Amino acid sequence: MMGYSACEDAEHGDAHLSDKDFRRLSEWIHANIGVCMGPEKKTLMEGRVKKRMRHLKIPPKTDFFREPAHFEYLNRTALPRLADRNGSGSRNTFRIWSAACSTGEEPYTLAMVLQEYVEGTSGWDYTILATDISGTVLEKAGQAVYQDETILAIPLPLRKKYLLKSRDPQNSIVRIVPELRAKVKLRRLNLIADSYDISGEMDVIFCRNVMIYFDRATQEKLIRKFYQHLSPGGYLFIGHAESLSNLKTPFVYMAPTIYRKDG
Ligand SMILES: C[S@@+](CC[C@H](N)C(=O)[O-])C[C@H]1O[C@@H](n2cnc3c(N)ncnc32)[C@H](O)[C@@H]1O
Repeated sequence: MMGYSACEDAEHGDAHLSDKDFRRLSEWIHANIGVCMGPEKKTLMEGRVKKRMRHLKIPPKTDFFREPAHFEYLNRTALPRLADRNGSGSRNTFRIWSAACSTGEEPYTLAMVLQEYVEGTSGWDYTILATDISGTVLEKAGQAVYQDETILAIPLPLRKKYLLKSRDPQNSIVRIVPELRAKVKLRRLNLIADSYDISGEMDVIFCRNVMIYFDRATQEKLIRKFYQHLSPGGYLFIGHAESLSNLKTPFVYMAPTIYRKDG
């Protein structure tokens, strides 16, 4: 099984305003409106920009193999441990949930990793549930069509195996193969809802780069719900700019931004 050492994406920009962007925005506001925004206003500005982006439905960033260390950990540590745990039991299907899946890059990356894993581990299968609040991004995820330049982080052997090229050489798009598309079940789900209509326990939850938009009380509630929906020994992966360290949660820390339910 290959490693996933594709370059770590430097994209803290979607979670936090960089100093450079903050300076550019402050200069623009000062020049055009006359209001002075000192460095102490950075958090305020960050909040306002995020709110405005939400309002305008500006699509948030996502990528294939975003934060590759997560997929490496999943492949090398989490899946073997989950398989050992269930080995003597009746269930031999990994149940994966990509919560806030955006346009599909995350769940299809998971599908590639899981497919590779189960091909090398006889008797195992997997299901992937991919949810998001936005119908627009879910529709794109369903089409599973991506521009050529977005696939560079996918290791070459996986690109060859799981992506179909357009027959038209002028058209620089690819599509995920039908076998993987069939594995990813897309559904609309609001993470802030009181409860989720999800049956059965998940073994792995990816909830990355969305919690950052929620206040602390909402984050704690969300994490409690994830805990309930995970099987004992199941894993939670969160975004690189997120942390559970300031929240009251029963999760056990395993590695940066990776947590496990005891059991
Ligand atoms: C930055 S993208 C993250 C995509 C992917 N998880 C990743 O890390 O690449 C954030 C996604 O969260 C979704 N989202 C925002 N609020 C949500 C909510 N309350 N419930 C479910 N999804 C939500 C947005 O529609 C968007 O697709």
